[in-house]
Amino acid sequence: MQFFVDTADLDAIAELNALGLVDGVTTNPSLIKKSGRDFKDTIAEICGIVSGPVSAEVIAVDADGMLEQGRKLAAIAPNVVVKLPLTLPGLQVCKTLSDEGTQTNVTLCFSANQALLAAKAGATYISPFIGRLDDIHIDGLDLIREIRTIYDNYMFETQILAASIRGPLHVKECALIGADVMTAPPNVISALADHVLTAKGLETFLADAKTAGITI
Ligand code: E4P
Repeated sequence: MQFFVDTADLDAIAELNALGLVDGVTTNPSLIKKSGRDFKDTIAEICGIVSGPVSAEVIAVDADGMLEQGRKLAAIAPNVVVKLPLTLPGLQVCKTLSDEGTQTNVTLCFSANQALLAAKAGATYISPFIGRLDDIHIDGLDLIREIRTIYDNYMFETQILAASIRGPLHVKECALIGADVMTAPPNVISALADHVLTAKGLETFLADAKTAGITI
């Protein structure tokens, strides 16, 4: 399973990248707004830190506008993935950009049929939003299971990029189901290493090492 970090915070990306935990990055306009930085400069800087795929989202809603913006974003760096909304014009542009050899990420997916359309449009990634479904009392993980089955049935190459992940349990379940990629905020990725018994065990080992006078 690939790990993407869902943020536009350059320090957080660099920190996780140094740990070897970043296969790619996803951003969206809300995350760019939160960073308080210029959009295209931020994407360029992220692409300078991370060699893997970096998703940058269009903000037009018509096909011509999305295509123009998508091409501009793709020109920023070779690892830019153009993120498009799951709308009919978004799918049309996904097909065009994919045919041109540009990587695409179809975002705001909330149903299996939407994921089916994205695969038919040649999307590199489909982003089902688990947390936002959970928020309205629909099990987001069920959607990941459905998409996995459909994509496997027809051997679609579109990768399932589990998004809107809210905690370590989501990550574990997505890995069990077989999502290709998960994208999560930096704090969720760091929290994957936490376990109370790890902390307790380490404390005991260090205390015993001190008592025993162990040196290395
Ligand atoms: C994915 O590409 C999105 O940026 C993100 O996962 C949305 O997450 P949220 O629902 O926590 O905003």
